[in-house]
Amino acid sequence: MTESIVNAIRTIPELRAQLAARRAAGASVALVPTMGALHDGHCALIERAAAEHEIVVVSIFVNPPQFNDAADLANYPRNERRDIELAAGAGATFCFVPAVDEIYPSGAATSIHVSGRLTETLEGVERGASHFDGMATVVTALLNITAPQAAYFGAKDAQQALVVQRFVTDLHIATRIITVETVRDQEGLALSSRNARLSDEQREQALALSAALRLTAEMIAERRAQTPQQAIAAGLQHLTDCGLEPEYLSVTDAQTLAPASELRGELLIACAARLGEVRLIDNLTVNANREAATVQ
Ligand code: PAJ
Repeated sequence: MTESIVNAIRTIPELRAQLAARRAAGASVALVPTMGALHDGHCALIERAAAEHEIVVVSIFVNPPQFNDAADLANYPRNERRDIELAAGAGATFCFVPAVDEIYPSGAATSIHVSGRLTETLEGVERGASHFDGMATVVTALLNITAPQAAYFGAKDAQQALVVQRFVTDLHIATRIITVETVRDQEGLALSSRNARLSDEQREQALALSAALRLTAEMIAERRAQTPQQAIAAGLQHLTDCGLEPEYLSVTDAQTLAPASELRGELLIACAARLGEVRLIDNLTVNANREAATVQ
C-alpha cells in the first residue's frame, strides 16, 4: 500500500469492517499500539510488523487512565498528521485514531489488573499501580477491537512488555506478543517521545542513563562485579557523578523481575531518572552465564 493513501480510521466499526474484508482475502493482521509522537523507535516496531504481516494497524491513542500525572497527560506531544505520515512510511496499512469516547463510551469502570511483582516493582512503584492497570486495560481493548495475530512492543518499556505478555497468557488472548529491541540515537540515548522536552544541557546529561546501564552490564558480563549490589553501586555512582538523581537502578531476573541474588542467567538492568520535569527510563539485558556473557 502506498504511503499517501493511509487514512485515519476513527471508529471501531469501520476498523472492524476493513479488517474483516482483508481477513476474508486471507491477509494476516498485526497491531502496533502507540500514543503517537512517533519516532524511529515506533517505526522499528511498524517495520518489523510489516515485514511479518500483510496488514499493519498502528493505533494512535493517548490513553488518559494510564497517566498518573495530569500535567504529563496535558503536555503529551500530539501531531496526528505527522504521525500518520511516519506510520505510513514505515509500512502501516491503517492508523486507528479513536477519540477517548470511542474507547471509553461509558466511562472506564472495567480494569485489567496484573498483580504481583510485574506491576508492583520499578515503574509500578514510581508511577503507581494504576499506570499498568490503565495500560493493560487499553491494550486489552485494542486487542479485542483488532484481533491481531501478533502485537509489537518495544524492549524500551521492558516491564510493560512483560505485563502485556502476562495478561495475554492469563486471559488466553490469541495474539502473539513480539518484543522489538530498543532503538537509540548515535550517542546511545534511547529514543522517547519525552526527549523532545529536554533542553540541550539536559540531553547531554540524559546520556548518563544508557552509559550507567552499559557500565553495570559490562561489570556483570566481564565479571568485574562479584555481586548484583556491586554492579548496581557502580551504575548509581556513574549517574550521580553525572549530576543525575536516579529514582532506581535495578538488576533483576529478566522474566520475573525478582531482584537478582546472584549474577546468573538473563538479567534486566533497568533505571529511571528525572531531569527537571522530564522522567526518563531505559534498560538493557545481560546474559550473565559464565560461558556466554552478552549485553543487549
Ligand atoms: P508509546 O510510549 O507511544 O510506545 C509505543 C510502543 O513503542 C511501546 O511498545 C514502546 O515500548 C515502543 N517504543 C518506544 N520507544 C522505543 C524505542 N526507543 N525503541 C523501541 N521501541 C520503542 O507504550 C505506550 O505508548 C503505551 O503504554 C501503549 C502500549 C500504546 C498503551 O497505551
